[in-house]
Amino acid sequence: MVNIAVLGYGTVGSGVVEVINTNGARINQRVGDEISIKYVLDLRDFPGDPIQDKLVHDFEVIINDPDVQIVVEVMGGIEPAYTFVKRSLQAGKSVATSNKALVAKHGAELLSIARDHHINFLFEASVGGGIPIIRPLNSSMTADEIEEITGILNGTTNYMLSKMFYEGADYGEVLKEAQAKGYAERNPEADVEGYDACRKIAILSSLISGQQVDFEDIHTEGITKITKEDMLYAKTMGMTIKLLAMSKRSGDHLNAIVAPYMLHKEHPLYSVNGVFNAIFVHGNVLGDAMFYGSGAGKLPTASAVVADVVDEAKHLNRNIMTMWKSDKLNLQPISDTRKRFFVRIQGNADAMKAHLESRFGPVEIIKAEGLAEEFGFVTEVMAEGEYEKYAAEFPSIVHMIRVEG
Ligand code: HSE
Repeated sequence: MVNIAVLGYGTVGSGVVEVINTNGARINQRVGDEISIKYVLDLRDFPGDPIQDKLVHDFEVIINDPDVQIVVEVMGGIEPAYTFVKRSLQAGKSVATSNKALVAKHGAELLSIARDHHINFLFEASVGGGIPIIRPLNSSMTADEIEEITGILNGTTNYMLSKMFYEGADYGEVLKEAQAKGYAERNPEADVEGYDACRKIAILSSLISGQQVDFEDIHTEGITKITKEDMLYAKTMGMTIKLLAMSKRSGDHLNAIVAPYMLHKEHPLYSVNGVFNAIFVHGNVLGDAMFYGSGAGKLPTASAVVADVVDEAKHLNRNIMTMWKSDKLNLQPISDTRKRFFVRIQGNADAMKAHLESRFGPVEIIKAEGLAEEFGFVTEVMAEGEYEKYAAEFPSIVHMIRVEG
């Protein structure tokens, strides 16, 4: 028997219990042993729920029980999760977690403790919810140099942008709908400002580089400035707008960004709509691959956590190598990264085109129906620092959205 303890009986924690109850027989066949939930840690009581029999309020019960071999951390946040996970690993217990904030900040250290103790620290659910992406990167695509990861890693904002695009809805309107459906929190900042996607791409960037990519170093913009007029321009150009989390190699450098992007119809992420997530990966020998599915939610997330428990139960006392050292990777400055820019500007296109081209080079003028006082233009590929320098000369710029591809 392999005994596990679940830290946190919230949405994901109760999902983990449900998945094990529903699919236990099959899971046990796959492990070749019986997975048994010995404890659930939560400050609350759950009278009437069968879990009450396994409920403990004190982490010391779990850490001091040598029969507990695997700890599932689904509490979220940095503390006390970090202390509990670290102590569990130091005590020789493998840990599976869905906690992206914890993994992004302390992943390298926790992996190293796991390695030293010949156990495992796995975190499949921390990025893309139920979509396998960590394990493919760590175990399947190991023959490749990963040159690009571009993901739609936040379901809430993808739901909102899809509604704005297909229904012509306003940002404020779709935010209220996302909150009513339980996708967006009452304080929606983590999703709409891109912070959630930023932690996730920091984790993926660390995994593909093998070094520590600090999420604080990743240029992050959310979707709060995107309007239905922007969507109108996107439609006129045969594009859509998506919040992309991106990590790309350019020569010896890696650059990473989270920002809304104009995306062409031909891009594989164009048709990823609603709360779905997808991750596009390009390897130097594999070429393109894409991972698509449910990026959040109780059971999809719990499915990924339990899959980690299965892997850990199959590798008791043997570390599955994950290349992520603690030495910091310095990302390429955003001003050096090169791309095309879509820009909305007030004024008359015919009168301004020559001036614009004297700075930005050849531009394509875009006129959207019903927007008479302004127009849009798309630059050729240029360095972002250069774009910023010239844009400062045009105070009537409304705003800029980067173009992918
Ligand atoms: N708030 C996140 C999302 C949940 O909308 O994708 C998963 O991290």
